[in-house]
Amino acid sequence: MIAKRVAAEKAVELIDNGMVVGLGSGSTSTLAIRKIAEYVKNGLQITAVASSKNSEKLAKELGIPIIPFSEVKEIDITIDGADEVDHDMNLIKGGGGALLREKILAFNSKKFVVIIDESKLVNKLGQFPLPVEIVPFASELTLKHLEALNCKPLIRRHNDKEWISDNGNLIVDCIFNVINDPSDLNQKIRSIPGVVETGLFIGMTHTLIIGNMEGTTRTL
Ligand code: A5P
Repeated sequence: MIAKRVAAEKAVELIDNGMVVGLGSGSTSTLAIRKIAEYVKNGLQITAVASSKNSEKLAKELGIPIIPFSEVKEIDITIDGADEVDHDMNLIKGGGGALLREKILAFNSKKFVVIIDESKLVNKLGQFPLPVEIVPFASELTLKHLEALNCKPLIRRHNDKEWISDNGNLIVDCIFNVINDPSDLNQKIRSIPGVVETGLFIGMTHTLIIGNMEGTTRTL
């Protein structure tokens, strides 16, 4: 946890008064949200937009002013975690199922800052199953096309039921083991009708902050 915490805290130092801040989801982002809340209590003035209902609830409870997506014009900085990061700072995200809103925030941010502990760094993406958000009503057809891309697609379940995203969709966890060309795969998956978004974040990361167990960080 210390590695995640130091990365999160380092990222929060990049926030200035007056900024619109995108809040990520997951355990590392939660640490960032808690730190942002401390700054807000001490007078930092920001507005924030959250990438999941969980992050929104936490931020509101901690007193961070939240605006809905419909009121966002420009985002100065988004701080978010990742499940895997390669040497080109391409990511797999969506372990928590918030990939669609996370990608909208990243795409619309002047600065997208990714915070990880060093265990998330990989030579090649794909060991972590790639989350793909799909519409529920045609899931069997969509799954067939995902399988044709040489993966094992598994619909995410929780308590014996299909897990539903904040957007009312299903998440398919695609086991590839190795992804040789993340950009090409992202295009191929996104061209399947029924796919809403993939957890591949290609060329979106501006800054990567890596925390380690000794409590120090490295910024790329
Ligand atoms: C949420 O949907 C994900 O994209 C998270 O950012 C990712 O799973 C990282 O989570 P942790 O910070 O909990 O490792």
